[in-house]
Parts: sequence; C-alpha cells; structure tokens
Amino acid sequence: MSDSLEITPEAVDAAVAAALAAIAAAATTAELKAARSAHSAEGSPLAALNAQLRSVPNERKAEFGKLVGQARGRVNQALTAREAELAAAETAAQLEAERLDITALAQRARTGARHPLTLLQEQIADLFVGMGWEIAEGPELEHEWFNFDALNFDVDHPARQMQDTFYVDPVQRHLVMRTHTSPVQVRSMLERDLPIYILAPGRVYRTDEFDATHLPVFSQFEGLIVDKGITMAHLKGTLDHVARTLFGAEAKTRMRANYFPFTEPSAEFDLWHPTFKGGARWIEWGGCGMVNPNVLRAAGIDPEVYSGFAFGMGFERTLMFRSDVQDMRDMAEGDVRFSEQFGMVV
Ligand code: DAH
Repeated sequence: MSDSLEITPEAVDAAVAAALAAIAAAATTAELKAARSAHSAEGSPLAALNAQLRSVPNERKAEFGKLVGQARGRVNQALTAREAELAAAETAAQLEAERLDITALAQRARTGARHPLTLLQEQIADLFVGMGWEIAEGPELEHEWFNFDALNFDVDHPARQMQDTFYVDPVQRHLVMRTHTSPVQVRSMLERDLPIYILAPGRVYRTDEFDATHLPVFSQFEGLIVDKGITMAHLKGTLDHVARTLFGAEAKTRMRANYFPFTEPSAEFDLWHPTFKGGARWIEWGGCGMVNPNVLRAAGIDPEVYSGFAFGMGFERTLMFRSDVQDMRDMAEGDVRFSEQFGMVV
C-alpha cells in the first residue's frame, strides 16, 4: 500500500484531515490511542507517505520532506493537545466521582460511655471489697418499718420529718421509696451471720427539688460493721482510709456531734479535700455513728456482746467535689457529652 501512495499535497492533506478528524472525535484516551495508531503510527497513511520519501528523487527531497514533516508535526501536535484535554477531563470526572464532603456531619451514632457515677460506685465498692467487706443490697420500694421504725425513728419523732418521704399508695401498706440506704443495715443484720462487714450502695428517693445541688432520686453508700469490740476509733480509721483512697494521701476526716436516731453517739463528718478546685478545704460529707443498741435489738443482736458503727454518704455529692461538677442535674440527664469529660471508659 505504501508503494501505491504517491507523495502529493492532496494525499498529504487528505491524510492530515483524516487524522485531525479522528483525533477531534476521540472522546476518551482509549479512543485517542486508537486514532494515534490508525493515523500516525507505523502502517498509517502518514507513515507510508514518510516512507515514500526514500524513493523521491534527490532534487525534490527537501520539498517533499518539508511537506510530510509539517503534516506529521501538525498531527502530533493535535494528538498531544487532545491527550492533555482528555486527561484533564478524566481527572476531573474521577475527582467528582470520588468526592468526599469533609464538612458534612458524620452520621454515625455516638459511642456510649460509662457514667462517671457508675465508675465512682465501682471504685468505692472495690475499695471496701478489698478490705474484705461484702456488698449488700435492699429494695428501693421499702417497708416503712425498715426505713424508719427499725432504725429507731419514733412514730411521732420529729426525725421522721427530717426526710421528705415519697409514700406509696395505699398508705395502709406502709410502703415508701426508701429515703436512705440505712434500711439495708437492718436487713443485713436480720439476714446475715455475725460479724457483719457490709457496704450498701444504692438509689434513694426524697421529695426534693431538682436543682443544682438536689436530685429527687440520688444514690448513697452505707457502711456497717457489727462485731465484738468495735469502737469509734475503728469508724474514724475507716473514714480516713476511704478519704485517702479517694482524695489522696493528704485527705482526712473530722467529726462534728450530731443526732441520728439509729446511731449513738452520732456525728456528721467532714472531708479535708486537699486538691479541691478552689483550694484545700473542709467539706461536709456524710453522717456516721455507733450503731444504736435499739437497732441491734430490733435485729435480734445482743448489744452487750456486739457493737458496731455505721456511716452514710451521697455518691452525687462525692462526685461533685471530687470531679468539680458544678450542677448535679448533669449527672441525671444522661447526655454522653457529660460522661466524655471523664474519659471514655466503654
Ligand atoms: N441515713 C442518713 C441520711 O441519709 C445518713 C447516715 C447518718 C447514715 C448516720 C448512717 C449514719 O449510717 O450512721 O441522712
């Protein structure tokens, strides 16, 4: 075929026109590759014309050489230009297809976190279990007898009004939402063998406002020991140990005389909080005392042989001044952003 192709301006123009048309029509780099091999590569009309140059008489070599050379130059230029165009278009299409909107909000559900109150409860429970105490539980819907009577609250005793109680209908059944964890003291004395070393963590209820420092539903931990020869020194030593474990080596407690019907003597106790946000200070922490002999008797324990101590404090309050939580309501609302501040323990 190459032999039959004469070098003429018409033949060259025809080859160039066909090449340019094919190049312009190529819509993809693959199509362009096909156009290149049909119109510029070996075996193409232009390549054949180029090969013909060999048989052109010497005196016309320059003339035909220029004709064919320029034709090849034009085609190559068109190929290069179209190649760049197609590559740019293909890159743009790929970018569009793989587009990722990094400003869009993730649709994932948030990972939950363990509530700091739960973590504190477990830490405190571990502390007591580590000392050989047992964890005791009682019902939140409690009989008035356990919540008050057995704890030495007189029927008309003003102490009953100390705590604002949710009574449950019908009132003749004498059921209350327990106002403290102290009824677990009595249940434990009735159910367990002596000696008794228990920690009773749990939820309690009072008709309190829902505000920054009160929750109508909150939680307490109650400690109780009944054994032979228990004194207030054991109580003080235990409270100081709890304080040091939770608040550091500098922490300690002090007692102030107070009244609770189920302990005698009774005290409120304060915590020396060495790392408190606004500076080290005393903070009111809970109530405690030596188990009142009347309580021991109500549970069938001889106060001549056994004695004991008890204490109770609030988890929410403890978390507040331990972790600098300003508003107790944040603990009740279950927003994961609150828990996240304490580290995501999942
Ligand atoms: N139950 C008391 C309250 O909720 C706290 C308390 C005081 C518990 C003295 C005790 C105790 O065990 O000995 O206010």
